[in-house]
Formats: sequence, structure tokens, C-alpha cells
Amino acid sequence: MFQTEPHIPENAHYKQLRDFIQTQRNTPGPLILVLQKAQELFGYLPREVQAFVARELNLSQSEVFSVATFYNFFRTEPIGDHIINVCLGTACHVKGAQHVLDALADELQIRVGGTTADGFFTLSTARCFGACGLAPAMMIDEEVYGKLTADKARKVIRDYRKNTGK
Ligand code: FES
Repeated sequence: MFQTEPHIPENAHYKQLRDFIQTQRNTPGPLILVLQKAQELFGYLPREVQAFVARELNLSQSEVFSVATFYNFFRTEPIGDHIINVCLGTACHVKGAQHVLDALADELQIRVGGTTADGFFTLSTARCFGACGLAPAMMIDEEVYGKLTADKARKVIRDYRKNTGK
């Protein structure tokens, strides 16, 4: 039986990705590097991009899928207009970053890596971005918000929406 492959459009991003893959051909285990490059180009890793990478690297789609979904720095859904990065570095972790993250996931009704239904926020995590004195901290796009509690993080999100008319 034939397995149908998703349609793979030819555009500049696919061309750049193919060129990058060529440079990685002799690197052992290039999959993570290739997926990082693909995410940089496409913003996330949709199914058709995973299929393209699998085909170019002679891997099965399930191998690519399991790597793309195992690491939380890979996104398999489109990103929103604003990215929230909650720091899970050591200083933030010991000061309750997980509570902040859980509160945001609940407030936004999405899991980590997900995007709100209106495409406004994507919730993600990061390792130390150098604001340890403000732990626990998060960034929304380039702006840092520190000394957070679960309630304060919820308020930041609500105010952010209000201030941008969303
Ligand atoms: S550990 Fe969170 S900013 Fe450094």
C-alpha cells in the first residue's frame, strides 16, 4: 500500500533548508541542528517541514517527529504574536518559577509550547536570561518581568492584553 506524503512546496525557505542540510551531510547526528535551522526559517516545525527533513536525511517521519516533540525548544505549532518565556534556570527555579509557569498555563488555557486560540501569546520556557537578581523572571518578547508570583504573572498577562487592546 502507498503511503501518501504531505505536499512539499518549493519556496525560498525549503531551498535554504536543503542547502543547510547539504552542509551537515557529514556531521554525525545532524537532526537536531537541522531542526533548529528549520525552526529558525519557518518559526515552528509543521508536519510538512518534518516530512521534508525526514526525506532529506533519509530518516523515518516518526524519528523526526519524536525528536521534534521531545525537546521543549522545538515548536510544532505556529507561534503567536507575543512569546512569553518563563525562565526555568536555577535561580528562578528555586524561587518558584514552576508555580509561575503553571499559573500562566492555566490563565492562558494552553500547555507549554502552545499558542492561545486568538494567536496572541505563545507560552515557552527558557534557561537563564541573565535576570537572576529578579528571580523568578519571565520575558514577553524582549521585555523582562521579575520578582513574579503566580498572581503577579497572571496580572502581567491581563494588563498586557488590556494595554494592547486585546
Ligand atoms: S536563572 Fe532565571 S534569569 Fe537567571
